[in-house]
Amino acid sequence: MQDRFYFGTNTKMFKTAAETVDYLRRLEELTCGIPRERAERFVIPSYTSLGPARTELDRAGSGILLGAQNMGWEERGQYTGEISPLMLREAGARLVMAGHSERRHTFRETDAEEEKKVRCALDHGFRVLLCVGEQLEDRQYGTGDEVLRIQLKVGLHGVRPEEADRVWVAYEPVWAIGLNGIPADEGYAGEKHRMLRGTLEELFGEAGSRVPLLYGGSVNPENAVALSRCEEIDGLFIGRSAWDAERFAAIMCAVLEAA
Ligand code: PGA
Repeated sequence: MQDRFYFGTNTKMFKTAAETVDYLRRLEELTCGIPRERAERFVIPSYTSLGPARTELDRAGSGILLGAQNMGWEERGQYTGEISPLMLREAGARLVMAGHSERRHTFRETDAEEEKKVRCALDHGFRVLLCVGEQLEDRQYGTGDEVLRIQLKVGLHGVRPEEADRVWVAYEPVWAIGLNGIPADEGYAGEKHRMLRGTLEELFGEAGSRVPLLYGGSVNPENAVALSRCEEIDGLFIGRSAWDAERFAAIMCAVLEAA
C-alpha cells in the first residue's frame, strides 16, 4: 500500500443532482479531516449532477475530486446522446472514467473505443480512470490475464510515460460487480494487481510503478480493510457500499486506521 490511499465511488444511474449535492455535503463533513496526502477521495456522479456538485465542492473548499462516468471522444459533432470533453470540463469534472464494466458489457464498448476516450481525456487535461476486468468465463478458461493485458495495452495505447501520472487504473472483475457479485478475495485481487503492475511497467517503465491501481467489485465494510492491506492495492473503487455517506466515511476511517 502506498502512503496515499484512493477511495472513490461511481454512483451509476442513481442519485439526482439534489441527492448528489446532499451526499457530497455530508461526505465532506465526515471526511474533511483526512489530509489529501493520506487519501485521495473522488466521486463520479451522473452528468446532470456535475454542475451542482462542482458548486457545492467549491463552496465547501472540498478536496473531493469530481469525475464523469463516460465521455465521447470528439469535442463536438453529430453524436446524438454523447457528451464531449468541453462539456464535462465546463460542468466541473476533473476526472473521466473509461471502460467501466457496464459500458463494456451492457453497451458493448470495445477496447479501441476506450483507447479513443483515454486519448481524448488526456489531451483535454483530465485525469483518466481506466477500468479493466475479466468475465467469469475468462476466469473459467484461464484466459483472465490475457483479457486484462489486452484491455490495458489497447486502452492505454499511445499514452506517453510523461502522461502516465494522470492515469489511474481500476481492476474490477466483472463477476465481482453489482448485486449478484462475489467480491474477489485479497489473494486473487493481489495476484491480478501484480500482473497489471507488471504490464503498466512494461508500458511506461518507471512511471508505470506509480500509476494508482485500485480494486473494485463488491467492496463492503467487511472486506475493505483486508483488501486495503494487500501490498499491491492502492485504493478501493466502491459502488453500493459507498452511496451512503456515513458508510463510505466509515470504510475510509477503518482503512486508514488499519494502515
Ligand atoms: P459495487 O460496484 O461495489 O456495487 O459492486 C462496483 C463498480 O461497479 O464499480
